[in-house]
Amino acid sequence: MKTPNITVVGSINMDMVTITDVVPVQGETVLGKDFRTVPGGKGANQAVAAARLGANVRMIGRVGDDPFGHVLTENLAKEGIITDSVKPVTDCTSGVATILLSDRDNRIIVTKGANEHVTPDYVAAFEQELAASDVVLLQLEIPLETVAYVLEFCAKHHVTTVLNPAPAQKLPDATWTDATYITPNENECLQLFGDEPDANLRQKLIMTKGADGVQFYENDEQVQVESFRVEPVDTTGAGDTFNGAFAVALGGGTVKEAVRFANAAAALSVQSFGAQGGMPTKAQVQSFLQQQGG
Ligand code: RIB
Repeated sequence: MKTPNITVVGSINMDMVTITDVVPVQGETVLGKDFRTVPGGKGANQAVAAARLGANVRMIGRVGDDPFGHVLTENLAKEGIITDSVKPVTDCTSGVATILLSDRDNRIIVTKGANEHVTPDYVAAFEQELAASDVVLLQLEIPLETVAYVLEFCAKHHVTTVLNPAPAQKLPDATWTDATYITPNENECLQLFGDEPDANLRQKLIMTKGADGVQFYENDEQVQVESFRVEPVDTTGAGDTFNGAFAVALGGGTVKEAVRFANAAAALSVQSFGAQGGMPTKAQVQSFLQQQGG
């Protein structure tokens, strides 16, 4: 299989993670167990996932002109990701995610900062690179008009796109139509498309359901791919690992095979701390799949 060229247009955040047994209610103060600062952001996470799995990856995004900005850009470069399309914004803070990690699950608040400056004009400088991509990955932590612009551009240039609609936000009908694949989780799917997504949209949906696997439609037939049973340490970034891995595997077989590969990558990713901490290499996914019986 040819090494895929993947472009991610998305967010780059510093994750400020508090690990706690107790989640405070309104007006309450509790004592946490630990605190860590690790690179994150749905865009950056998906870029790292794809790069670890062997893809050529370009990140189009923005950071602040603050210390986090340097660390976040360096982190991407260290993963072998092309970062000349990650430019700092003057007098702006980098994107930050405040994460409460409790009972191996998370609650996240994102403050967009420099991610707000991933505008259509900024991205337009990289149209050649977008057009030359095998897959373009997007999420919803950057301005929605940029998401709409990139999806329209890619549809015109016959470039495959994967839109991870997280956090869930309404988009114009034409934007959903422009996406090749849309990868909501169960809640996002319900929130955005209701119980019965219309038939055209349904064909694009790859719905992740955590431990209950992944559901999608093929020629109007519902297909269910089971997830792998593992003991999670931290589920932050599991969806991002799924998306990055799905994009990598799309060129190498059927959608069902790509989903299974992505499920395996996500299962491995949740076994370590941090959004990017447990993201596996291709060899690790292949060996895990072999252990699981092919
Ligand atoms: O999907 C997990 C990510 O969501 C975190 O890394 C955080 O930065 C938020 O963007």
